[in-house]
Formats: sequence, structure tokens, C-alpha cells
Amino acid sequence: MKTLHQSPTDPAFVQDPYPFYAKARDAGALHYWQDYDMVAAFRKSAVHMLLRDRRFGREIPAEMATPGPAHLAPFLAVEAHSLLDAEPPRHTRLRKLVMRAFTSRAITALEADIAQLCHDLIDAFPDQPFDLLQAYCTQVPIVTICRLLGVPEEMAPQLLDWSHRMVAMYQAGRTEETEHSAAEASAAFSDYLRSYIDQRRSDPQDDLITRLIAAEEAGDSLTTDELIGTCILLLNAGHEATVHALGNGVKTMLEQGWDPAWLTEDGIDQLVEEILRYDPPLHMFTRYAYEEAEVFDHTFQRGDQVALLLGAANRDPAVLDDPEVFNPSRPAKTNTSFGGGLHFCVGAPLARLEMRIALPILFQRCPDLRLAEKPEYSDSYHFHGLNRLMVSR
Ligand code: HEM
Repeated sequence: MKTLHQSPTDPAFVQDPYPFYAKARDAGALHYWQDYDMVAAFRKSAVHMLLRDRRFGREIPAEMATPGPAHLAPFLAVEAHSLLDAEPPRHTRLRKLVMRAFTSRAITALEADIAQLCHDLIDAFPDQPFDLLQAYCTQVPIVTICRLLGVPEEMAPQLLDWSHRMVAMYQAGRTEETEHSAAEASAAFSDYLRSYIDQRRSDPQDDLITRLIAAEEAGDSLTTDELIGTCILLLNAGHEATVHALGNGVKTMLEQGWDPAWLTEDGIDQLVEEILRYDPPLHMFTRYAYEEAEVFDHTFQRGDQVALLLGAANRDPAVLDDPEVFNPSRPAKTNTSFGGGLHFCVGAPLARLEMRIALPILFQRCPDLRLAEKPEYSDSYHFHGLNRLMVSR
């Protein structure tokens, strides 16, 4: 196994991690990535397999779990009740209850609302060059997830602030200040939801929070702490990645040129899949080994971590012709941007729906949309999204 050196905060890597991925993929399925001090999988075959291998999982092995520093307690309390950080049987139970409320009927019912929201946002675009990431790509997912959960839309700026401070914990370059800020945001977010959930208990509405409260499976339901953890996960995951899937997609289309056929009813699903494959917003997730496991000629020991490079797997030439080319006309193949296996993204149908509505409306309403400055990615690996997207129309 080769040892790779690549700082995740190196400016050249942040702007374009794909040459590093290509070299790593060519050299083998697994490598030791020194900067993360763990083995990492870059090829599609390895990422695909490890996402589904039940000898690996997201939850930290019991004997490695520590109470964590006191100043992080509110953040860790939220994580402790999140299905993203649980494994069966806890994960099975939580995910079943969430899926009872997060129905495809509830998602499809949002369609007309999302389209109207897109039009309203475009109506408010200024004539001067402006930041499309703020004015559109952020607003569509945050307002949609607020509406779906039943949280007042006026809370959107506050939710964005809490969410950004919490997800900074998963980004390279985390400091003690990041930790304090994340803990403070978690406490405030939890307090807000606790009283909001109480309110919904006595005044049920037709929204996801009410359905989560009511969700029951074989006499079991979510505790208040689990409800809070789930709502925070849905609110945060419900916009952080979709914002940048939209932003990265629009950037690529404006840089490379676009074909109106991609935006038609026949072309849009392929465009969405190609955007998600070509430049996904989340590049890396990790797993713990739960037992001794031999994978691609490497023996993992219980407690070893492995990084799964979704952004690298999507461009593997072993499974796709010309993977470095953005080509929305190619037949859509499953990509790994939403993960796979037990933790496959709960919100994938919602994210896809938002993209398949927001992109055609944007380009139909603003056919002359063009870049007003060169877009730059933010220094926030493993998140891969733009700082801003200045455009003129
Ligand atoms: C383009 C947008 C999105 C991308 C690229 C994305 C990506 C992902 C990925 C890769 C995972 C799995 C992580 C792992 O296996 O370690 C995941 C899990 C998850 N996502 Fe998403 N996501 C997106 C949008 C959403 C939305 C809109 C929601 C909610 C409304 C959402 C909710 C979740 C939840 C709850 C999980 C945890 C599932 C579990 O642990 O069983 N995501 N997402």
C-alpha cells in the first residue's frame, strides 16, 4: 500500500482535488492517506464495496467511545441521537421511524411549491452582478426544508447560522473555536426545537415534525431527544449539500456552456445525475472496522478507520468512459454522491426533485446568465462548494 501526502487545506487541492484522486486511483484501490492518518479508498469498486460491507460502520466501536470534552457536550448530545451516527439495531429503528414520516407523497407534494419559490426568488434578482449562491442556490433548499418540517421560513437565516457552525466540525482545519461555536449552536438549536416540538404536540399540523412525533412502529416511537436529533439532522443535511450541488452544477454549466436539451423533461434527470457525479458537494465519509477484515489485500483491525472518497469513485475510468468530461447527454449511471448501503441518503429524492425543478426554471428565466467573476471553492474539505457564485443576467 502506498502512502499519500495531501493536505486537505492545500489551496490547489481545495480548488481542484480531481488530479490527486486520479493519481491515487491509478496507483491502487487502497492507500494510506497520511494527512488523515487512515487508509482511504479511491476506486469505485472499493468505495462501493466498503459502503455495503457490514463489517464496517459509522458508529464508533463501544470500547473506543469516550465521553468527549465537557465544552462539546451539547454538540455530542445531538450526534448521539442521530441516525447518521448509529448502526443496527439502533439505526434500523430510527431510520424506520423517520421513513414513516419522510414519505415520497410528502416529497412529491412539494413540487408546485418549489417551482413557485424558484420564480419568486428570480423575480427578486437584482440587475447588478449578484451572488447566485446566496440569492438562489441557498434559498431553494433552506426554504423547502423549513416548509417540509413545518419550521417558520423567517427562521431560515438562523437555521443557516446554526447549521454552518455545526457542520464546521466535520471540515478540515477545525479549531477549539469551531468546537465552542458548534456547541453553542447545538444548544440553541436544541432549545428552539424542544419548545417547537412541544408546541406541535398540542397543536398538530400537516408537517414533517408532526408526522415524526406521531411516527410509530410496532408500538415504538421517537423520544424527544431523538426527535430533536432527527430534526437537526434533516434541517442541516436538508440544505448543506443541495446548496452546493446546485452551485457546482450552475458553475460547470456557465463555464463549459450548456445545451437547452439538457433542461427538457427528457434531459433533466441525466443533467442532475451528471452534475452530482461530476462535481459532488460531499467528497469523503469514513467508516470504522468492527472486526478483522481483509479487503483489497489490506487487513483492517477492529477500530481502524477507512475513508471513502465519493468524489474520486465518481470519476473512475474503470466504470465510465471519459469520466473527467462533463457530459449530461451520457446515459445516467448510479453515482456514489448519495452514498450507498444502510446509510444511503434519506433526502436523495428531495435533493433530486429540487435540482430538477430549480435548474430549468433558472436557465429558462435567465437565458443570458453568465459568470461575473471566476468562482472559487471554499476551504472546507470534505465539503466541496463555492464561496460565492457572482453572476450577471
Ligand atoms: C445533493 C444533496 C445531497 C447529497 C450529495 C447528500 C449526500 C449524503 C450522503 C453521501 C450520505 C451518506 C453518508 C455516509 O454514508 O456516511 C447522506 C446521508 C443522509 N442524508 Fe443526504 N445528501 C443530500 C441531501 C440531503 C437532503 C435534502 C436531506 C434531507 C432532507 C438529507 C438527509 C440525509 C440523512 C438523514 C442521512 C443519514 C441517513 C442514514 O444514516 O441512514 N440529505 N447524504
